[in-house]
Order: sequence, then structure tokens, then C-alpha cells
Amino acid sequence: MRLRKKPKALETLKQNQNLIIFKPEEKKGNWKEYFGNDRPLYVELGTGKGKFIVENAHRYPNKNFIGIDSKFEVIYMALKRALDRKIDNLALLPFNIESIEEIFDKNEVDCLFINFCDPWPKSKHAKRRLINVRFLEKYKLFLKDDAQIIFKTDNRPLFDYSIEEFKAANLDITDITYDLASENDPENVPTEYETKFMERGVKINRLKAVYRTQDSELRTQD
Ligand SMILES: C[S@@+](CC[C@H](N)C(=O)[O-])C[C@H]1O[C@@H](n2cnc3c(N)ncnc32)[C@H](O)[C@@H]1O
Repeated sequence: MRLRKKPKALETLKQNQNLIIFKPEEKKGNWKEYFGNDRPLYVELGTGKGKFIVENAHRYPNKNFIGIDSKFEVIYMALKRALDRKIDNLALLPFNIESIEEIFDKNEVDCLFINFCDPWPKSKHAKRRLINVRFLEKYKLFLKDDAQIIFKTDNRPLFDYSIEEFKAANLDITDITYDLASENDPENVPTEYETKFMERGVKINRLKAVYRTQDSELRTQD
């Protein structure tokens, strides 16, 4: 679906600028003011049609959530899902993650979700992977001390690669599973892709990592 051929979809996006942020750069450093509270901020990169982020926002009204995707057509699907649930702790950003440091300021984000990102299998495209060290270094610019990054994928080579990239970025991997279904984790919220893969019996990999700044390491040693 191309939005230029769907004027109604574009109109719906424009009519819901309480949820859709067209110029998120203008909110950099001011996301607390945007949400009107001091609650922790959870961000999903490549949010797709919004199943994960909308369910999280519904489940955890005491946290704020942001879903980012460069494709207007999937942001539109996520918006429709959010409108069905009457949610006020969510923002959806049509934005290219390549420039993510332009929308969040230092210490602004408590948790980052990277769910089933595009694998870019050719090594000449490795830098485009959202778990490439180049991106991980960008995320560190706005993550709080002890913030978490949670990455899920069905793609085992990508997962193995991500472990090396997280280590290269000095992110502290605290948990790894190669078969998420076997964990029966009640806190796991499945994404659209995850649900499809699970139905086909494909194993899902998940890692959790913590960003420890020098300050938080010194605190731990005290
Ligand atoms: C494979 S889909 C996964 C969607 C969802 N996270 C899920 O698990 O069901 C990846 C999504 O990431 C988005 N995406 C990929 N690279 C991006 C980038 N650089 N900036 C913004 N969105 C991106 C794509 O548009 C797509 O919707």
C-alpha cells in the first residue's frame, strides 16, 4: 500500500497528530513534556504494524512508549490498532532510524526494543543492520545508565552476529535464549513477525543487554 494512492490514510495520519509525530526532531529532549509526565520511556525500532508496541502501551499504562518506522503505510496500520485501544501513553514516529540521534537527547530512553529487524544478509550491507555496532553506538548517546536493549529475531546467523556487535559496543549481555517459546515468559509480548514464525514452529532468539556507563560501574563497585 502506497500512501500517495490512499489519501484517506494520509488524512487519518494528519488527523491524529496526538499519536503521530511528523517532526520528532522538535521533541528531542522534551519527550517528558510531550507525554505530560515523568514515566519511563520505552522505544521500539522498526515497529511495523504496531502489534508489539500497542499491546505494551495497553498493558503498562505507567510507562510511555514510542514506535518508530520509516514506512508510512505500516505506521498507518499501527495507528488504526492504537485508536481501537484508546491509548494515551504512545507516540508513533514515521522516521528513519539512521538519524535516531536527532530525536532523543542524552539519558532520555529507559529501554530499547529491536524486534525482527531486517537482516541485510550480504556483508557489504552489514552496516545497515540495526544491531550493527555503528547503530549501537548511536543508541548509547541517549540511553540512561542501566538502560536495557532487548533484541529478538528468528534469524540465527543474525543473532550470532549481534552478540559480537553488542560485545564490541561494550554492552553487557545479561540474558540469551535460543528458544523463547520454551521459556514461557509471561512478560514476553509477541510481535507480528514473531507470531507468524512461532506458528510455523520456528525458534525465536532473544538477548537482553544493559548499557552501563562509567558512572553506573563506579556505583556498582561502591
Ligand atoms: C521485518 S519488519 C519487523 C516488524 C516488527 N518489528 C515485527 O517484529 O513484527 C522490520 C520493520 O523495520 C522497519 N525498518 C527497517 N529499517 C528501518 C530504518 N532504518 N528506519 C525505520 N524503520 C526501519 C521496516 O520498515 C519494517 O517495518
